Amino acid sequence: MQAITCSAPGKIYLFGEHAVVYGESAICCAVDLRTRVQASSNDTILISSDQGDTGLDHDRYPYISSVIEEMSKMTDIKGVKLRIDSDIPVGSGLGSSAAVTIATIQALNLLFGCNLGPEDIATLGHSIERKIQGAASPTDTYVSTMGGVVIVPVKKKLNIIDCGIVIGNTGKFSSTRQMVSDVALLKKRYPEMIDPILSTIGRISMTGEELVIKQEYRPIGELMNINQGLLDAISVSGPELADLIYAARSAGAYGAKITGAGGGGCMIALSQLPDMEKVASAITRAGGEAIVTRITEHGVRVEH
Ligand code: MEV
Repeated sequence: MQAITCSAPGKIYLFGEHAVVYGESAICCAVDLRTRVQASSNDTILISSDQGDTGLDHDRYPYISSVIEEMSKMTDIKGVKLRIDSDIPVGSGLGSSAAVTIATIQALNLLFGCNLGPEDIATLGHSIERKIQGAASPTDTYVSTMGGVVIVPVKKKLNIIDCGIVIGNTGKFSSTRQMVSDVALLKKRYPEMIDPILSTIGRISMTGEELVIKQEYRPIGELMNINQGLLDAISVSGPELADLIYAARSAGAYGAKITGAGGGGCMIALSQLPDMEKVASAITRAGGEAIVTRITEHGVRVEH
């Protein structure tokens, strides 16, 4: 039996979530939390994970089911067995859907010899996310495919940030689709106020790009805090997130903000490597689940 395991990383936004949906710049980083998909030849379609076993199932596994359907248009997939396991909490703003989509595409690509290159994988992943979520920028799927630190929409890779990343998970489920549509509504009602906020977020990302290149972490943290204030202004923060953000800042983080769609899900703190545990403990004491991680250069890859 032929079997292949591929994995793809989750991501955090250093700057620019939500604004990126309107064409503004954002800086997104792949993190060392991965989703693994093992694909093996089988007579029928079987998807299995901790959530149980099923065939093609758009309710339980919308992203995986859509990948199988889309890739069946390129090659004859009569059956396949997919086993999923993941370090990335679902619905937490860490790109779990992009990671499972990209890892599944690459596993099927290699198992069935579809000859998709990285750009094709990212493009297919984005079209699947957009179909399922309504609106989705190509950022999550691109970063999960390529890894590293990427400024979008130009898709330029920046150097790796040599700092600790402490993630704080509120444990509150957040729907990206809902949050993106809430921001769209606010923008429609108050364009003269919301448009400048979104373009200022874009400017933060552009200034942030130079700071990342120069590895100036303290001002990067300051810009993260300004970005957080603007995210609060467009109503995507919340009390649970704010508690963790202020706890991380008080514990010495360079900066802290939500990551991803907000409304729940996760915040991130950028910290000096020796301070990571202190920041993580502060997040835990404030009621969050702390995840200590690093930025990774590795996008989608084969696991041996
Ligand atoms: C979600 O991870 C990030 C958002 O900007 C939506 C998107 O870019 O598709 C909120």
